[in-house]
Amino acid sequence: MKKVGVAILGLGVVGGGVYEILTKKREFLIATQGVDISVESVLEVREDRIRELGVPAGKVAANIAEAVCNPDVSAIVECIGGVDAAREYVLDALHAGKTVITGNKELIAKYWSELERTAKTHNAGLYFEASCVGGVPIIRTLNDGVQANEISCIMGIINGTTNFILSEMTEKGVSYEDALAHAKSLGFAESDPSADVEGYDAAYKLSILSSLAFHTKVPLAKVFREGIATVTAEDILDGKALGYRLKLLAIGKREGNTVEVRVHPAFVKENHPLAAVDGSFNAVYLRGDAVGEMMLYGRGAGSLPTASAIVSDIVFAATHGEHRYATFKNTASPDRDIKFTADFSGAYYLRLTVSDEQGVLAKLAAILGKYGISIAELRQTSAGGGASKLFLVTHGTHETAIRSAVSKLHATDFAKVESVLRVC
Ligand code: HSE
Repeated sequence: MKKVGVAILGLGVVGGGVYEILTKKREFLIATQGVDISVESVLEVREDRIRELGVPAGKVAANIAEAVCNPDVSAIVECIGGVDAAREYVLDALHAGKTVITGNKELIAKYWSELERTAKTHNAGLYFEASCVGGVPIIRTLNDGVQANEISCIMGIINGTTNFILSEMTEKGVSYEDALAHAKSLGFAESDPSADVEGYDAAYKLSILSSLAFHTKVPLAKVFREGIATVTAEDILDGKALGYRLKLLAIGKREGNTVEVRVHPAFVKENHPLAAVDGSFNAVYLRGDAVGEMMLYGRGAGSLPTASAIVSDIVFAATHGEHRYATFKNTASPDRDIKFTADFSGAYYLRLTVSDEQGVLAKLAAILGKYGISIAELRQTSAGGGASKLFLVTHGTHETAIRSAVSKLHATDFAKVESVLRVC
């Protein structure tokens, strides 16, 4: 029977979940996976947490060196979060030839190449299924489920906090501030929610997922990012009236050697599978040339869902003869053959206030037409005081065309563009 001794660094929400699964399900994993996984060491300073989880005193390491150097430990589970200390600890473990399992998306997005190089040098494993979409096995799917495919698109709702906020705004018509306060009160949003609401968390995940999907390094710096903090309930409800749902989407596309990677709020048609992903749930949609379309759906965060992904990595590492590394040259910079584009194509939603007078729609259409933009849907309501509100959705166009048209409209005396949102 293969035996694996584990050290868990940090017994917070995720580390505690890993401890719980590994201790409660030890016999189950022996019976089903043929591997005996024991927690040999934990690194945690909060004594109440150690007591709460029932960790025996002899298993609590005094410091990182004690946890890493423990001869009974072959796998280190990093759950301390943050980047600087985590990077140092992970490098220490890899240098000692210990396999590292982490859910730290920021660490992987920023230091993957350095960590992988160190892992390879010391014949250690580096696994991070829990870094992307929590309990949903998207990395295993990309690495081990769709090898036959060239993936042309990976698109998802990969941040639960923002999906909860946008769902609240859509269902209850509440403001962004009220929805954020509710998310905080339920523990979905952190007291400083910027990593989630400004799209950083989703950008880390997209950098990792698109690198795996497209077999080429997609550095974090190449991911276009816009958050949800400026989204208004008015836009969400107007979009809803036109049959759309607003989501924070992470989108990666590859066509030939051209790659686009972006995180931003976007409307999706109400019958699109991603439109039905509500609350704190996540989903990832993929398109491969052999498999066609597929979608994975589930919990992207939380103690046991994230711990489930970590345990799957421990089992994977224990039951495979050779470690798995990236399928591409994992340097910090992208491959020279790859071109990243920020001139995205797609439809756009515009909300405008215009003068309610004869000829205004013709002038608006003329400006849009000058940039090759055609209107697909239009709704008009009175704004009072001789003004109208216009909500329009364009046919497919380009980011550069929309930006030029919007700046031209801003310079007129008859139209004010109140908001611009992408439609996917
Ligand atoms: N904060 C993330 C989310 C979970 O809201 O989805 C961890 O990445």
